[in-house]
Formats: sequence, structure tokens, C-alpha cells
Amino acid sequence: MKILNASALLVEPLESRKFSRFSLQYTETEDKPFDDANWEPRFSGHQSLEEREESFLARNQKINCGFVRGPEGTPSTGFDLAEDDAKYISSCHIAVASCIFGNSDRLRIPVGKMVSRISKKNVCFVMFVDEATLKTLTAEGKMPDSMGFVGLWKIVVVKNLPFSDMRRVGKIPKLLSHRLFTSARYSIWLDSKLRLQLDPLLILEYFLWRKGYEYAISNHYDRHCVWEEVAQNKKLNKYNHTVIDEQFAFYQADGLQRFNASDPNKLLHSNVPEGSFIVRAHTPMSNLFSCLWFNEVDRFTPRDQLSFAYTYYKLKKMNPDKPFYLNMFKDCERRKIAKLFRHRSDEQRDILSQPETE
Ligand SMILES: *[C@@H]1O[C@H](CO)[C@@H](O)[C@H](O)[C@H]1NC(C)=O
Ligand SMILES: *[C@@H]1O[C@H](CO)[C@@H](O)[C@H](O)[C@H]1NC(C)=O
Repeated sequence: MKILNASALLVEPLESRKFSRFSLQYTETEDKPFDDANWEPRFSGHQSLEEREESFLARNQKINCGFVRGPEGTPSTGFDLAEDDAKYISSCHIAVASCIFGNSDRLRIPVGKMVSRISKKNVCFVMFVDEATLKTLTAEGKMPDSMGFVGLWKIVVVKNLPFSDMRRVGKIPKLLSHRLFTSARYSIWLDSKLRLQLDPLLILEYFLWRKGYEYAISNHYDRHCVWEEVAQNKKLNKYNHTVIDEQFAFYQADGLQRFNASDPNKLLHSNVPEGSFIVRAHTPMSNLFSCLWFNEVDRFTPRDQLSFAYTYYKLKKMNPDKPFYLNMFKDCERRKIAKLFRHRSDEQRDILSQPETE
């Protein structure tokens, strides 16, 4: 793995002409259907199965992609930001984003000396937190300064969380960075259990620019087949088994097959992503994939490793002539860039074992 050693001479490439071009729009509001008295506005909207099917087509169209609001006069569907914060994040050109909801993790500040002066000027580092997490951070002495920063992180407080399951809320900044950072060309997602230890521009160069990719995600260090991932999720009781089974049966009925490592035509190196580190260019195909993946997580389980490969295969199947430049890299490459810590909630349990040997 050869990462460049300085970002000073890096030049951001022009938009590559090989990337698919089309224009995506997003549902902003939904109206109450007059025949459904129990209808309530939802953050992810109410997508029918027909609309879901259509949404996979890479063409000019309007799709659901979170941030759906109800008709005027109805309460907010959530993920509310202060006006100044919304303005700040909508002005970022390159974003490094992470989140802590429900006190799940400690705040890991990127290694300052690894981040170049150019990056400090051109990259926004945004940590989304809920009010409970902010309270804990403050109590632990990590109070945001008058500009809202703790170290490099701009702390952005999210009010009115759209889901009661914090894992689900976490998928919003994770999968929908292009909806939050509306004018950003690039974003890097970092799970809060990771601490960044490399300059963001060098990350973009290595994972995207050098070989012309538009989306980069690591594969799982251990599991390659979704069948194993489903078994593991059930064994560790990660989610309601009935709902996992429903999702998996749905995907199999729509053609998802076991991962076959020796198939020369296989589309992915692995069908299970690690997912704690994602690098993306906000191109139409990359944005579409992100929306589709989020909508699967919304419809089924928040265990996003279960829907990744299916979403990718279906996107390819429905758009045979539209390439999607996905870089699925090895998890060990991620280790050089970001150090892994335990989740705060797991610290007690694992106090005697080593977090990660490098
Ligand atoms: C799991 O989900 C099913 C279907 O939604 C529900 O009927 C069942 O009560 C849930 N089980 C648990 C243990 O929550
Ligand atoms: C996996 O792919 C190889 C090569 O195409 C094929 O010979 C083999 O039958 C496949 N295995 C399964 C279980 O489908």
C-alpha cells in the first residue's frame, strides 16, 4: 500500500467523463393520502414496492432519500439542525463525517499533525451528536469552544431524532452524506470507534483519484458471504430474527446468490462490507447507490452489511450499461488510516482484551 507522503502538490481531478451522468432529485415533501387516517409523515417517506423498483434505475428521476417532510402544519420528521450548523455543513467542499448518538462512543480526535494545512483549510470535520452525547462530552471536559469545535471536530447537535433505534439514526450521516453536505464533492465517513490518522486529501487520492473510483468501502476481514453474515447476526442476536429472515428471503427471491469466490465473473471481492470507513465522490451513481442502500436499511434491518451486496447487484442488474466505479478494498488498508477502538458500551466487557493489534 503506497500512500503519497504529502498533500501539498495534490491537485483535485476534474469530474471524470467516464462517470455516468444523470440528474437525481429527492422527494422533499409527501402529502397525506385522503384514504388513510393513520398516515403520519416519516423521515424516510412511504415508498411503495413499485416506487422502490423504479428507484434503482440510473436515470433522471426523483427518489426518496431521507429528509422527507410532511405537509405544512405537521411536525418535523426529524434530524433537525441549528440554522448556523446547516449553513456550515452545506458550504463544505470536502467533508469528513462521523457521529455519536446515545453515548455509544468516546470522541476520538483526528491526529492533528497528520492533517495538512491545506486540509485544515479545505476539509470540514463534522461530528454529529445528539443532546445526550453532548451532555456527556461536556461533563467529561470536551466542551465545544465558542465556534462549536472540539479539536478538529465541529460538533453538530442533532435534535428530534427520527428513529428510536440509535443505530438507525447513525445510518443517516453514514449513508446520506450527500444530502447533508449538499455542495460537497467528496466525503469520508468514519465510524466513531475509529480515529483518523491520515490526511483526508491523501485518502481521496489513494482510494478514489488514483484509479478513478467514485465509491470506496472495505470488505469484511472475516466473512465474505451474506449467508454467513446472516448466521452471525442471529448468533449474536444483533437484531430480531424474524425481520432478518424476511429481509433475506426477499433478497433471495429477487436473485441474491451465495458468494462464490471462484466465480471469475463475480462482481465483488466480497459480499460483506466492513463499512466503518467509506470514501465517496458525490457523483450521480454514488449518490444513487447511497440512497438505495439507505432505503433498504429503512425498509428492513439497520444491519447495513445485510443489504450492501444485494443493493449493489440489483443496481448493476437494472443498469447494465451504466458503470459504477466501486473500490472494495481490504480491511487491512483501512487499518493504516484509522485506528480502531472499542465502543464505549463494550469497554467494560472487554476490559481485559486488547482492542486491536497493528
Ligand atoms: C420480531 O418481529 C416480529 C415481526 O415484526 C414481531 O412479531 C416479534 O414480536 C418481534 N420479536 C421480538 C423478540 O421483538
Ligand atoms: C463457483 O464458480 C465456479 C466457477 O465458475 C463454478 O465452477 C462452481 O460450480 C461455482 N460453485 C457454486 C457452488 O455455484
